[in-house]
Amino acid sequence: MDVIGGDVPAGLEVVRTTSSGLGLVLRPARSDDLPRLKEFFGSLSDQSMYQRFSSARREVPEQRLQQFLSVDCSRNMLILAEIKGKEEVVGLGQYSLNPETHLAEVALVVRDDYQSRGVGREIHRRLTEIARGKGVLGFTAEVLQSNYKALSLLQEMGFESVSRDDESCEMRQIFEEEVARRTELPQNTP
Ligand SMILES: CC(C)(COP(=O)(O)OP(=O)(O)OC[C@H]1O[C@@H](n2cnc3c(N)ncnc32)[C@H](O)[C@@H]1OP(=O)(O)O)[C@@H](O)C(=O)NCCC(=O)NCCS
Repeated sequence: MDVIGGDVPAGLEVVRTTSSGLGLVLRPARSDDLPRLKEFFGSLSDQSMYQRFSSARREVPEQRLQQFLSVDCSRNMLILAEIKGKEEVVGLGQYSLNPETHLAEVALVVRDDYQSRGVGREIHRRLTEIARGKGVLGFTAEVLQSNYKALSLLQEMGFESVSRDDESCEMRQIFEEEVARRTELPQNTP
């Protein structure tokens, strides 16, 4: 298999234009992206960090970032969104597959000065394309009840709320075609 940087399958990089006209390069993270990830998380507001991790934190420890990058591509994905023509990360999306349910937990975060410009939607679309291509059945996401932007984005993308407590909400999106394909009965069976 072709690989980029020895760890990520090639051919997964795409260029997309957001609804607000931003040119984005969406690509899987590489093992040499650690400095870019540090800079990206370092630039986030306290609120965005809280919404992404559902807990207050000022930074993401380097060990955790290393874990983000040591992905097993058959189960996990980390996509970076960069402004076309610049190596500047403005958003990222991750998923991690639960091998028992074949659902993957998804999480997105966009740099504060690029939020509400269509970046999150493009990252989610790209993660969905990749996940479907790998036979994932759907996504789950844990979102704070107060996080109206994320709730609104996920609802628009087809997620439904499956459970909630005082603080957060568990959302789920099932990729219908994949379920249909898996449950299709073989033709002409005796
Ligand atoms: C949630 C988040 C990822 C959305 O990304 P984004 O780039 O800001 O969103 P987009 O511009 O692509 O907008 C997509 C949809 O999100 C919702 N949305 C975005 N900005 C919004 C705003 N200011 N007010 C209300 N809804 C908003 C809308 O439904 C929007 O669809 P529309 O453009 O048709 O109205 C981003 O705001 C973020 O990083 N937040 C902090 C981290 C976080 O909450 N992560 C979610 C944990 S899974």
